[in-house]
Amino acid sequence: MCPLSKADLIGSISEGRGVFDLHSIVRKWFLLIRSAWTRCNDLYLNIDTEPTRLEVQGVSNSARPVWFGPISEEARHGDNHAYTSPDYWYVRRAIGIVKAGPDDVFFDIGSGKGRVICLVARTTVEKCVGIELLKPLCEVATRNALRLRGKRAKIEIVCSDAASADLCEGTIYFMFNPFGAATLSDTLENIFTSLTRNPRQIKIVYYNAVHEPVLKGCPWLEKFHEFRTIGELRVTFWRSVQTEVANFGISNK
Ligand SMILES: C[S@@+](CC[C@H](N)C(=O)[O-])C[C@H]1O[C@@H](n2cnc3c(N)ncnc32)[C@H](O)[C@@H]1O
Repeated sequence: MCPLSKADLIGSISEGRGVFDLHSIVRKWFLLIRSAWTRCNDLYLNIDTEPTRLEVQGVSNSARPVWFGPISEEARHGDNHAYTSPDYWYVRRAIGIVKAGPDDVFFDIGSGKGRVICLVARTTVEKCVGIELLKPLCEVATRNALRLRGKRAKIEIVCSDAASADLCEGTIYFMFNPFGAATLSDTLENIFTSLTRNPRQIKIVYYNAVHEPVLKGCPWLEKFHEFRTIGELRVTFWRSVQTEVANFGISNK
């Protein structure tokens, strides 16, 4: 027998408390289903990209927000975010929007354990490159790249700070909110410098676009698409404006 009357039950549901806290029950189910969905995708691809609890929680000390990753000597600014990975469903959607093809070299900047790189390497792109700051994550990504089922494109994992890494081969750059505004700004500068040396059309996917003003401040970039995930993360799509890059080249001759 249920010890609560019908009125008590309805009351506790509508107030969102106790064992009948509908919101927390739905949330638990959602997280459970999402984790099973991720596991199924990982198994299907024969890789392991699930973040551990320690990786998601990042490093917590009073001077550093909890969503930041471990401090790295290699990082110019030290604003590196902890490892988490975007949902497989939305990564496939984003890859479809940028229409990656045989002439594309796809970079994941802050590639973590390589989920995005592995998905893209099963398409017809020329090459995939993962840039990752933390060595332990680079090692996992390299293992995943070797084991990946259905690989069609070559995968390179480069353990480096994105602000100073060689990004000059890329035509599509994916970023799942890997760092703060300072590194984002330097990374965009890095891409822009490579464009002036090797002019080409590039696209950028900025997933969880919390520092979007940094991209908006680049006259050589224009936004061409945007969508929101079920968790209300904004995924924004950018492409280079050829005239702005060419003008910069001319004014610097
Ligand atoms: C939110 S995770 C994204 C993981 C990956 N893109 C994926 O989708 O599975 C951000 C990653 O960026 C890395 N990162 C942070 N700052 C970086 C930097 N300056 N250079 C290269 N990687 C960096 C972090 O170590 C972390 O693995």
